[in-house]
Amino acid sequence: MIKTGIIGCGNIGTEIGFFLSKSRIFSLDYVCDIDKKSIENFLRKIKNEKIKAVGFDELLQKADLIIEAANKEAASGILKNKNFSRKNKKILVMSTGGLFENISMLDRIKNAEICVPSGAIAGLDAIKAVRGRIKALSLTTTKPIKGLEGAPYIAKKGIDLKKIKSKKIIFEGGIKDAIKGFPSNINVAASLFLASRFKGIKIRIAADPKGKLNVHEIACDGDFGRILTRTENKPSKNPKTSYLAVLSALRALRNIGENLKIGN
Ligand SMILES: NC(=O)c1ccc[n+]([C@@H]2O[C@H](COP(=O)([O-])OP(=O)(O)OC[C@H]3O[C@@H](n4cnc5c(N)ncnc54)[C@H](O)[C@@H]3O)[C@@H](O)[C@H]2O)c1
Repeated sequence: MIKTGIIGCGNIGTEIGFFLSKSRIFSLDYVCDIDKKSIENFLRKIKNEKIKAVGFDELLQKADLIIEAANKEAASGILKNKNFSRKNKKILVMSTGGLFENISMLDRIKNAEICVPSGAIAGLDAIKAVRGRIKALSLTTTKPIKGLEGAPYIAKKGIDLKKIKSKKIIFEGGIKDAIKGFPSNINVAASLFLASRFKGIKIRIAADPKGKLNVHEIACDGDFGRILTRTENKPSKNPKTSYLAVLSALRALRNIGENLKIGN
């Protein structure tokens, strides 16, 4: 059994918790969260007496597979932690903005396997395949108002989301500013960068007051032709998080135990 720990007992963490506690390959041994209530809710739902609530450092030290489903600060904290970098750990990262912000550190890691599920988008396998040949790459993300509330960029620019009556682009720019301004919304942009390593990704974020879905559109051009992908995602229990992201994390875990690897 692979000793597993989950950092972040919220929406994605809980769904993963259900999966792991039924698994024959993984044992769910540790959880950690900065919010006591999240841990209590998690343990009440999962009902597995073996699970220990521990601190961040202890989890990194004791778990062999670490699942990050918290936020980009937690993902950065894992990369910077000695317990992680000195041992042969596997880590599945959902808050990929934290990897993007520590890219030089990420490229130096030798003793760990880092897994980035495709999350709320499709086509990361193709984008990775054409790395080095890309001439233009863009991501357009459209979300209902609820999915954008609380983003630092909206507060900084004084945007009143309630006044938006029809679909409107509220952000256009590069990846650094997108991740800083929309840390809970735009992990897909970070994942796209990690797959492509293309520095000129153009990001657009639109608010759609009539929309019910989180829509991500990718256009990628080069000498290979054109890749266009579009996912129209139903939100999960957390309106900022697409349900596809949950399914993608579960798929990444199932892949660990399967001999046939499809896609890359
Ligand atoms: N890669 C993708 O495509 C993708 C898609 C959707 C969501 N996400 C990201 O996945 C992460 C989890 O999403 P969610 O919907 O489960 O969020 P959530 O808000 O429901 O749960 C997050 C949990 O993490 C806890 N937490 C926050 N900071 C922490 C820290 N430093 N240490 C430990 N626990 C901490 C919170 O208290 C909360 O219980 C978010 O960062 C989200 O942006 C990624």
